[in-house]
Amino acid sequence: MTMPNLVIALTKGRILDEVLPLLAQADIVPAEDISLSRKLIFDTNLAHVKLMVIRGSDVPTYVEFGSADIGVVGKDLLLEYGDEAFYEPLDLDIARCRLMTAEPIGRAAPVGRLRVATKFVNIAKRYFAEQGVQIELIKLNGALELAPSMGLADAIVDIVDTGKTLTANGLEAKDFIAHVSSRIIVNKASMKIKNAAIREILDKLSTAVANRAA
Ligand code: PRP
Repeated sequence: MTMPNLVIALTKGRILDEVLPLLAQADIVPAEDISLSRKLIFDTNLAHVKLMVIRGSDVPTYVEFGSADIGVVGKDLLLEYGDEAFYEPLDLDIARCRLMTAEPIGRAAPVGRLRVATKFVNIAKRYFAEQGVQIELIKLNGALELAPSMGLADAIVDIVDTGKTLTANGLEAKDFIAHVSSRIIVNKASMKIKNAAIREILDKLSTAVANRAA
């Protein structure tokens, strides 16, 4: 039986180093060293499987529209994007961290509306609305930890792993919003049309995740 072509969109950066060993256990190995290349799409040992390596925030878009069949992306970005547009069948349990609010250590309560800087605008809107707190949202794309000390915001919403970045910038974590880890997402049409090929990969990845946890 010829296998249908499959495109897997991977998140570049930290997640990639952790996901490649799991893919290898699912018998998918890039044909060349991704870290040494400027390419964005890679052949693998399997003729029908290709790997794309892109920004995490673009993975849901490629998978929603079917340009990629499968994606690997952090739950933070899925919460921000909305998770209706694809299936999310597997938690890879890697790149674990937390979505938190943070503010300057010992900060006095701000006068007026809380100014919150974040790249996770939908998550922040939802979270503070649930708390009944009125905020002014300030969208940034990175280095959020700088915003409070530069007078741009009273608080931030960001991912926290060791907490070192917060501490180094005079901030402390306050409210827990969500646990984050890398997830597999699958395009809804691909799941039907290429079911056998996708199931095979999902099964092998689940086994790899379970073996690692054991
Ligand atoms: C994330 C996050 C924090 C940092 C937290 O940035 O935005 O800056 O990690 O880690 P820590 O608690 O261990 O210090 P990342 O390096 O993923 O890059 P980003 O700025 O693109 O999000």
